[in-house]
Amino acid sequence: MKHLKFKFSASATDFYADSSFSQLKKIVDQANTVLITDENIFRLHGSKFKNWNCIVLRPGEEFKVQATADAVISQLIKMGADRKTMLIGVGGGVITDITGFTASVYMRGIKSGFVPTTLLAMVDASIGGKNGVDVGVYKNLVGTIRQPSFILHDLDFLDTLPPLEWENGFAEIIKHACIMDVTMFNKLEQQTIGHFRETRKELSNLIRRNTLLKTKVVRQDEFEKGERRLLNFGHTLGHALENQYELSHGQAISIGMTYACHISKQLAGFKETSRVVTVLNKYGLPTYASFDMKRVFEVFQMDKKRERNDMNFIVLQKIGKGMIRSIPLKKLQKIIAGI
Ligand code: GLY
Repeated sequence: MKHLKFKFSASATDFYADSSFSQLKKIVDQANTVLITDENIFRLHGSKFKNWNCIVLRPGEEFKVQATADAVISQLIKMGADRKTMLIGVGGGVITDITGFTASVYMRGIKSGFVPTTLLAMVDASIGGKNGVDVGVYKNLVGTIRQPSFILHDLDFLDTLPPLEWENGFAEIIKHACIMDVTMFNKLEQQTIGHFRETRKELSNLIRRNTLLKTKVVRQDEFEKGERRLLNFGHTLGHALENQYELSHGQAISIGMTYACHISKQLAGFKETSRVVTVLNKYGLPTYASFDMKRVFEVFQMDKKRERNDMNFIVLQKIGKGMIRSIPLKKLQKIIAGI
């Protein structure tokens, strides 16, 4: 088991790369731990949960809401959970968010850990400490930033991952490549999802590389005052589309990245939109879409990256080099309407 320790401002996260769920009982005190998972994971991997205290939630982004956190809290009270209890989210991004959020408010904060079971959760959602719930169409409007005590990867969970979930994960991997790793972008251009699925070593290296890339950015700017905003590439339009059109996160940010490339051309002279679009399509992701501009622009008003009349928008200067640009909302809307 490869073990790394990531130091953050007030805490540290142990990272167990390419590990196994069975190692969990060596890492935590089983009696004082509650696993939070969803019905899909529980059905597919039920035997793993034997002898653990479990809360099993209904699956789906529509349950990433305050009411679910309240339901978890009620169950924790019934289970007699106290300040020594640790919550471990075993699942995709919805589960890691709900677990991190509940752990940060229950009794004013108890420890949490994550066993991400989707590619997207491994390379993105479980890393960085941001956790939140959606409020209507507003993604992650309510939440906290608090680092988990550990993250453990068991790649066996990916064996049951449906194709859409592979595409979802690759959207965030392509995002990382676009904003900060041209070498990885070149590799993605040459490969396919099938290649990574079938070559465990390559998949493990890719997941580790993305985990380290994201962690590096978060460690430099844990509370998103500057550089961390780069990770929002494709997310302004993506989040505005995601819940309105019931897209997966990967599909939504893929469309968001496509439009962000065109905006990058206008704001930063970016010349490689077609390369990005080709890679997104190659990994099964949508790029151009028709949508209701008025509704999308209404959602922009509540975007956390908005500061008064300006949006902190992420553009590409070139592949592998993202930049933050403050752009008047009206100008942003005009450019999008013209694409
Ligand atoms: N939990 C995702 C992040 O912190 O970015």
